Amino acid sequence: MIRFIAAIDSKRGIADEHGIPWHGKIPTDVRYYHQKIKGFTTIMGYGMYTELSKPLVNPTNYVASQRGTTLRDGFILVEDAVTFLRNATADVWVLGGAVLFASTFDLADELYITQLTANFNCTKFFPSFESDFTLIRRGEDLSENGVTFRFEVWKRKVPRN
Ligand SMILES: NC(=O)c1ccc[n+]([C@@H]2O[C@H](COP(=O)([O-])OP(=O)(O)OC[C@H]3O[C@@H](n4cnc5c(N)ncnc54)[C@H](OP(=O)(O)O)[C@@H]3O)[C@@H](O)[C@H]2O)c1
Repeated sequence: MIRFIAAIDSKRGIADEHGIPWHGKIPTDVRYYHQKIKGFTTIMGYGMYTELSKPLVNPTNYVASQRGTTLRDGFILVEDAVTFLRNATADVWVLGGAVLFASTFDLADELYITQLTANFNCTKFFPSFESDFTLIRRGEDLSENGVTFRFEVWKRKVPRN
C-alpha cells in the first residue's frame, strides 16, 4: 500500500517559498502525522529534506533526488522515486513536497489529508485528486490557534494494477 500524507489548504496549497505557512500552529496535526508514519518506510523529496533538521522517527527516511549528492546521517538517497515505489514490497508513506507528490501521484493508493478550511496563498500544491479518489473517512472540524482543519482519508476508486 502506498499512502500519501499531506496538510492542504482550501486551494490544495501545501507550502509557499518560505515553507509551510501554518507551521507550528496545529500541533494535533503534527501528532497525527507522527502516529501514522511511525515505524514505516517513508520517502520525501529533496526540497522537504532541506527543511528537516533531523530524520523523522522512522527506520528508513528515503530522500528522492537525482543530483547525486551526499545526504546527512539517517537519510538514504533514492534516485528514481517511481521505480522505488513500484518495487516496494512493504507499505510506504510518501511525505511530499509538491514535486514528489506530482511525480509519483499515479502510484498513490490512499491519501491521508489534513484539510484546512482557509486559503494560505501557497505557491506549491497537492495534485487534484477528487475525481480519482473517494472520501472514506472524514473527521470532525478541529480548531487550533485560529486554524480550522479536519482529518480525511481518501481511497483510489479504481485500484491500480
Ligand atoms: N503541507 C504539507 O503537507 C507538506 C508536506 C511535505 C512538504 N511540504 C513542503 O513542501 C515544500 C517542498 O516541496 P517542493 O515541491 O519544493 O520539493 P520536494 O517535492 O520536497 O522535492 C523536489 C525534489 O525532489 C526530487 N524528486 C522529486 N520527484 C522525484 C522522483 N520521482 N525521483 C527522484 N527525485 C525526485 C528532485 O530532487 P533533485 O532536484 O535533487 O533531483 C526534486 O527537485 C517544503 O516547503 C515543505 O515544507 C508540505
